[in-house]
Amino acid sequence: MSRIAYVNGFYVPHSKASVHIEDRGYQFADGVYEVVYQDEGRLIDAGLHLARLERSLRELKIPAPVGGSALLTILDEVSRRNRLASGLLYVQVTRGVAPRNHAFPPPGTRPSLVVTMRRTAPFPETLAGWTGSAIVVPDQRWARCDIKSVSLLPNVLAKQAAREQGATEAIMVDADGMVTEGSSTTVWMVDKSGVLRTRALSERVLPGCTRAALLEEMAACGLVLEERPFSLAEIRTATEVFVTSATSFVKPILALDGAPVGDGKVGEVATRLFGMLARRIRAGRNA
Ligand code: PDD
Repeated sequence: MSRIAYVNGFYVPHSKASVHIEDRGYQFADGVYEVVYQDEGRLIDAGLHLARLERSLRELKIPAPVGGSALLTILDEVSRRNRLASGLLYVQVTRGVAPRNHAFPPPGTRPSLVVTMRRTAPFPETLAGWTGSAIVVPDQRWARCDIKSVSLLPNVLAKQAAREQGATEAIMVDADGMVTEGSSTTVWMVDKSGVLRTRALSERVLPGCTRAALLEEMAACGLVLEERPFSLAEIRTATEVFVTSATSFVKPILALDGAPVGDGKVGEVATRLFGMLARRIRAGRNA
């Protein structure tokens, strides 16, 4: 069966889906996106993703192409037409098509909306086999990493560097020697005194929806988190490191730059958080 994509009001075969060469997303990376995991017909944390999409659009002054409930209908329809109950939905909104000019196009220019879906491996049963490794790279991004912009060149280069070194993720470190996030993930660590840490939200990191979901679950279980940045030196002595995202869920990082993290095995805290997310997903608790 052929894949179906949504492009500006039409459901079209994936192989024929296209936007104009003067789409501002293509020419300026002038657009934003979301990646949402759907599990057995249920979008996971759709509310968090929609809210973040609206915020990204607002911050960049891109008009919303459709309202939230219309977008949910489109996501549902893309899933239905692809006959996929589980998988990853990709939503992209750009400032639309206009003659190339850096300044915004005239008011009334219609933003472009594209939605695709692809099959993925099902949510893992356990963390056995669901692990990765990372390298450390300098964070070369702009100053508004809180906006989920399609402008991802530093992330692309970071992930490629990881691949070339046989690692799954690149962990980015800023000019002050502090860890920001992964090339496409939120980074967490357990320090030597057993404290779970991840960076507080700011313009330096993307506010991860998986992060937000886990914070909710942790508050309900009384698991304590310190939203405090950590340095490269600290992450090198962490007993656990793991990353989270809509695609990696909770993924333990067992080696950093080739050296084992802690005892090199899946840690207790990552296992607990993975369990919380698994329960949340199974319970279909859409935000
Ligand atoms: N990436 N940080 C960055 C830089 C990201 O690109 C992502 C997500 C995250 C985690 O966010 P969330 O938990 O909402 O997925 C953190 C997506 C999956 C991607 O670009 O494919």
